[in-house]
Amino acid sequence: MSGSPPCLLAEFEAREPAGSIREACVIGWPIEHSRSPAIHGYWLKAYGIAGRYRKVAVREADLASFLTGLEGQGYVGCNVTVPHKEAAFRIAREREPSAVAVGAANTLWLDRGRLVAANTDTYGYMTYLTAAAPGWGRRDAPVAVLGAGGAARAIVYGFLEAGVSEVRLFNRSRERAEVLARSFGARVRVFDWSERGQKSAASAVLVNTTSLGLKHQGDLGIDFSSFHASTVVSDIVYVPLRTAFLAAAELHGLRTVDGLGMLLNQAVPGFEKWFGVRPEVSADLYCRIADDIAGR
Ligand code: ATR
Repeated sequence: MSGSPPCLLAEFEAREPAGSIREACVIGWPIEHSRSPAIHGYWLKAYGIAGRYRKVAVREADLASFLTGLEGQGYVGCNVTVPHKEAAFRIAREREPSAVAVGAANTLWLDRGRLVAANTDTYGYMTYLTAAAPGWGRRDAPVAVLGAGGAARAIVYGFLEAGVSEVRLFNRSRERAEVLARSFGARVRVFDWSERGQKSAASAVLVNTTSLGLKHQGDLGIDFSSFHASTVVSDIVYVPLRTAFLAAAELHGLRTVDGLGMLLNQAVPGFEKWFGVRPEVSADLYCRIADDIAGR
């Protein structure tokens, strides 16, 4: 994939008569670095859809009025990113089970004028994990999750829905992990942060959902030498694409799953709701966004 040409990541716009154009957006604060316009713009162009997808910077104080006025502003829906995911969930009139389980929304659309909230992070993570590491759940072993923020919640929910018998949760502040575990029941067990290496060495999957490793900052300090050979190591950090965590696991021969696939797959349900086509996460799209992350 490294041989693919550099990509033009401007916001695309299909040339169709004004009036028939459907428009969606991503909101957050800040929002400049969002890659969602590049992903949705790629699909709009690929499928020849008369649509637009733009970034909108929305302050916390303006969130409720922005969302309740979404339709009036001509939008068919939006993505929601940091720091508005929990507030958007509360503001929505209807909430899909995916959003209720996580207590946060990243994808909103209008259904006969009613604002509906979903959380597609669970779908994005589980879809890519299953595609990139087929058979990850075949062994009856626990899975291990590092972190206890919103992303961890979405992923823990995904593993439980997939039928995993035990999710081991490790977080720097143990109390936050205890709160998360309580909301999901006895299949989620909390361990001390100091035990993250030893107690995850036999797991089917070990996933990092913390911000450690983002832009090369911090180190998870895990020694993979005693890990079971079939453990899949995954990271939701995608800048850089190959984090130090994944590189260390690869050095020990373990299968790894990067964070970009989750980002691309979580975008699929929103695009389908807004523009009426279920888009494909193709190798070409993956390469284009990977090129952008690498600054090519
Ligand atoms: P998100 O909603 O995107 O998951 P978040 O709610 O900010 O993000 O959570 C960030 C996660 O990274 C938390 O689990 C956080 O641990 P704490 O709950 O103890 O804060 C974890 N994290 C961030 N910096 C960390 C560090 N230096 N060491 C260990 N964990 C860290």
